[in-house]
Amino acid sequence: MLINYIGHSTFQIKTEDKNIIIDPFILGNPWTQTEPEDYKDLTHIFVTHGHSDHLGDTVEIAKLSGALVYCNHEIAGYLASKGVENIHGMHIGGAHGWVKMTPALHGSGIETKDAILYGGLAGGFLLSLEDRLIYHSGDTGLSMEMKLLEDKVDLALLPVGGNYTMDIEDAKLALGFIKPKAFIPMHFKTFPVIDVNPRDLVVEGIEGIYLEPGELVQW
Ligand code: NI
Ligand code: MN
Repeated sequence: MLINYIGHSTFQIKTEDKNIIIDPFILGNPWTQTEPEDYKDLTHIFVTHGHSDHLGDTVEIAKLSGALVYCNHEIAGYLASKGVENIHGMHIGGAHGWVKMTPALHGSGIETKDAILYGGLAGGFLLSLEDRLIYHSGDTGLSMEMKLLEDKVDLALLPVGGNYTMDIEDAKLALGFIKPKAFIPMHFKTFPVIDVNPRDLVVEGIEGIYLEPGELVQW
């Protein structure tokens, strides 16, 4: 599969039959010059939580592409109210075919001009793709629940920037819980308060894949 790190927590993953984006934060994402129009070919969109740097341009991209949006029940309701038609709402611990939602220690409020709407609970996703299991944790602090994923995950996409999420030290502990075959750090440098060097995340025996925003890896 082809993994494109668009920057922040946004990943595009292409397999033979799927073209996926996770947390489509495009406009306002300082790491990409792309626009929602560039994502018309998507088949699936995943939204981990309601914060604007994750929900991002979901409404526009979903309408442009017709891709099926996976998210929690409350965000599903929000997206439906915005005219998105192809939505699969689910919730933490629930699985649906090749998709399972995982817990995250984080908020999920949807920021609108006048108010913050209730966006359910923040989560992450486990995606079974080409006989491999990919874990995108979403924004989260370190949690014991990660231990439940021990020895199951092939590739873990984990935040490292601190302040809003785990920092490097906690991400090391998370990798010790999960023991994936490989990891890609995310959610760093976008804002001054999360400006860390992802290459400081090193755990013996686990392959670190350090992608710069815009970088692709065939994996
Ligand atoms: Ni967040
Ligand atoms: Mn975030």
